[in-house]
Amino acid sequence: MEAMDVLVPALATEPQFAQRLREHLEKEQLLDRRYRLQQVPGGRVALPVLEEKLDQLWLPREVPCGLVQLQDPVSSKAARRWTPAQKLRDELRQLLGESWSEELERDVPRAWQRHGDLILLSEDSFRAAPWEKLGPVLWETVASALGAQRLARRGRVLPDGMRSPSVTLLLGQDGWVEHVDNGIRYTFDVTKCMFSPGNITEKLRVASLPCSGEVLVDLYAGIGYFTLPYLVHAAAAFAHACEWNSHAVEALQRNLVLNGVQDRCRIHHGDSRQLELRDVADRVNLGLIPSSEEGWPVACHVLKKDTGGILHIHHNVETPVQRAEGAGFDGEAQNPMGDSVKEAVEARIRPEWHRWAEATSARIRGLLAELHGQQWHTNILHIEPVKSYAPHVHHIVLDLECRPTLPA
Ligand SMILES: C[S@@+](CC[C@H](N)C(=O)[O-])C[C@H]1O[C@@H](n2cnc3c(N)ncnc32)[C@H](O)[C@@H]1O
Repeated sequence: MEAMDVLVPALATEPQFAQRLREHLEKEQLLDRRYRLQQVPGGRVALPVLEEKLDQLWLPREVPCGLVQLQDPVSSKAARRWTPAQKLRDELRQLLGESWSEELERDVPRAWQRHGDLILLSEDSFRAAPWEKLGPVLWETVASALGAQRLARRGRVLPDGMRSPSVTLLLGQDGWVEHVDNGIRYTFDVTKCMFSPGNITEKLRVASLPCSGEVLVDLYAGIGYFTLPYLVHAAAAFAHACEWNSHAVEALQRNLVLNGVQDRCRIHHGDSRQLELRDVADRVNLGLIPSSEEGWPVACHVLKKDTGGILHIHHNVETPVQRAEGAGFDGEAQNPMGDSVKEAVEARIRPEWHRWAEATSARIRGLLAELHGQQWHTNILHIEPVKSYAPHVHHIVLDLECRPTLPA
C-alpha cells in the first residue's frame, strides 16, 4: 500500500503544551511510537495516538488539544524495526509463496481499527482477485498476525439516515464488541452500528457539564455515546433517549444496563421528529450531522416551558478556503481551563461559526416565541469545535441557553 494511504490520529497542541501532553500519553500508553511528532498548520505540534486505544483517551484538563488526522506521518526509528503491519505482510508473503506480487503487497492494509479481539479493516484492503482463492485461511492468517480472533471489513456508511456502517464480518460468529471509554462501558455490533472515535473530545466535555438533577432529552442517542456520559458522569437525573435504528436501540439498552443506569433512562424507539414529549427537558442534545435542524422544533417542544434550558446543537459548518493564519484548526478539546488558554481557544472560533450560531439562535428564539406565544431570549454560551472534515468543513457544537422572558 502506498504511503499516501496512511492516516494516523494525533492530538495537536500548542508547542508549550507538547511536552506535558507527551508525558501524559506515554504514561497512559497511548502514544503511537511508530511515528514521529510533527508540526501541523497553525504552528501546533501533533502527537500520534494509537488508533486502537482512542476510546481510552482522556485528557488532562490543563492541556488544550484537538484530534487531527496525520497523512503520511514519518516513521520513528523504533518503528522501523518490526511493526504489526510488517508482521502481517511477512506472514502473508509466506502464505502465498511464489504467487506474491506487488499488487498484493499494495493491498495489505497498514492501518486498521482494533475493537478488543476484533480487527476492523478498511474498505480498500484485500480487494485484489487472488486473495479470494485463498478462502478462510487468508482471514485466519490475518487475524493471527494481528493477534485477533475476529475480522471484519468496512464498507461505506450507507446514506440511509441511520448511519448504518455496511461492515462485513470475515471471521468470527458475531460483531459485538465492547469499549471502555472514560470509565463508561459501551457494547455494540460493529456490523450494525457506527462508531465515531472523532467525537471523543465532545464526549469528554459532556461528561464534565454540570447537569446534576437535570432531565436530558437526547434526540439522536445512537448507542448512547452522549446519553451515557450525561447519566454516569454529568449526574443528569433522567434521560429520554430517542433513536430510530433498532440495532442502535438494542446496543443502547445493553449499555444502560452495563453501566447500571437503566432506571434513569427511557428509550423512545422511533423518529425523534414525531416525539410527543412536552415540557420536560432542562437540556437537549442534538447530536446529528451534517445538521440537526429538523430536530429544532421538537427540541423547543421538549424544553421546560417555565424555565427553559440549554440546547447542544451539532452542525457541520463550511469555512471558505482563504484564511490569513494558514490551514489550521482541526478540532479542540474543551476542558475546564485557565483564562489564557480559554482565550487562545476562543481566538480560534471562526467568524462563519459565529454567523451560523447567531442565525441559529435567532431561529430557535423565533420557534420558541411562536410555540409559547411569549418572548424568549437565547444566549450563545459556547461554540465547541469537534472535528474537521477536509476540505474546510467543521463539525461544531453550539451550546444555546434558552429562557422565557419574564413579564415586566
Ligand atoms: C451521528 S449518530 C450519533 C449518535 C451518537 N450521538 C454518537 O455520537 O455516536 C446519529 C444517530 O441518530 C439516529 N437518528 C438520525 N435521525 C433520527 C431521527 N429522526 N429519529 C431518531 N433517531 C435518528 C441515527 O440512527 C444515529 O444512530
